[in-house]
Amino acid sequence: MLGTFTYANPTKLHFGKDSLKKLNEELPKYGEHVQLVYGGGSIKKNGIYDQVVELLKANGKEIIEDGGVMPNPTVEKLNEGCKLAREGKADLILAVGGGSCCDYAKAVSISAHCEEEPWEKYYLKFQDVDPDTKIIPVGCVLTMVGTGSEMNGGAVITNHESKLKIGHVFDERVFPKFSILDPTFTYSLPKYQMAAGFYDILNHICEQYFSGEDDNTSDYVMEGLMKSLIHSSRIAIKDPQNYEARSNIMWTATWALNTFVAMGKSTDWMVHMLGQAVGAHTDATHGMTLSAVSLPYYRCIMPYGLAKFKRFAKNVWNVDPAGKTDEETAKEGLRAMEAWMKEMGVVMNIKDLGVTEDMLEAVAESTLIMEGGYKVLSKEEILKILKESM
Ligand code: NZQ
Ligand code: ZN
Repeated sequence: MLGTFTYANPTKLHFGKDSLKKLNEELPKYGEHVQLVYGGGSIKKNGIYDQVVELLKANGKEIIEDGGVMPNPTVEKLNEGCKLAREGKADLILAVGGGSCCDYAKAVSISAHCEEEPWEKYYLKFQDVDPDTKIIPVGCVLTMVGTGSEMNGGAVITNHESKLKIGHVFDERVFPKFSILDPTFTYSLPKYQMAAGFYDILNHICEQYFSGEDDNTSDYVMEGLMKSLIHSSRIAIKDPQNYEARSNIMWTATWALNTFVAMGKSTDWMVHMLGQAVGAHTDATHGMTLSAVSLPYYRCIMPYGLAKFKRFAKNVWNVDPAGKTDEETAKEGLRAMEAWMKEMGVVMNIKDLGVTEDMLEAVAESTLIMEGGYKVLSKEEILKILKESM
């Protein structure tokens, strides 16, 4: 049975080729000072930076340059961004990049005018934004597909000193006001990042699918999203400039984590907690930290949610259950997922991400335990999963 919920998603999306021009409709809604957030330089190489600057200037905007956002943005960078926003009196933060830039922009938007220390308030204490805190509006131009950050309130920040990578999903006040999704902007992504994004999308869906025993519309929607992703990813991995495949994947990623399919469900997120702990210790690419721990995790929880794993095998991976036990069918589903992961070329173990045996205890220590999935893991089980992920 569906749980009780309130649903709203205030992000306006502009999707498709040439949608960058929609900045002409959006920019006049905001004041003169625009904080232009971007990463390590990919947008300068592929020409997107020049196009955005031209549109900002044409709309009479003063640009506050805020480049150098690293993958897995840090608390130090967040504090720098807040200073820039205050000094430049930012009226809009425009993130041009992947999930890291979008997350960072949202974190700056709620932290720049926050009286308390943002890391402590939002990430260690998990507090919400105070009602009287000024939130700077955020807009996104997406260049890397995977996180869904373009249409949600999530903002993940890494603290290397305390070896913690923590995500906080904020309420609708923090969602981007608008996001521009042009699939052709993702063509310049290296294959490694593209594949990491594919696994991130699949796992976002799995994190919301593997919970509950009820009959729930969201589970059917998610099966459709997963089938579309699997189909299009097989095309895109061979032909990265295939617009049909890349645009379907971009759309799937947004729906996978724009809060819609989570409605009325409890959700798991334990693969993300394990992956984030690996990320906190290695700074590895987000999607690859997930792929590296997933199979040992799912094999561990499968007996506790067997019916759903059987359904996953049948409805997503087309496994024929005839003549098989439920367990055999479920295992065959996971094997099909494993084969797809290898086809995509994602990282299959944490050793390849830089984790060594002597780090395992500390990685386990950095893993937050969630309670929404089929099994609440013990510390010992976390360590066992990490060992099996080596
Ligand atoms: O920094 P630049 O030079 O732009 O290069 C980036 C970066 O090195 C590159 N890139 C992006 N677009 C490109 C491109 N290179 C060439 N052409 C393009 N068009 O790709 C690299 C990775 O970018 P990044 O933004 O870090 O990747 P992603 O989108 O996967 O974001 C990862 C961050 O998002 C968080 C992760 O934890 C991580 O910190 N997440 C946010 C979520 C949310 N808001 O809901 C949920 C996710 O589960 C995730 O945790
Ligand atoms: Zn993710």
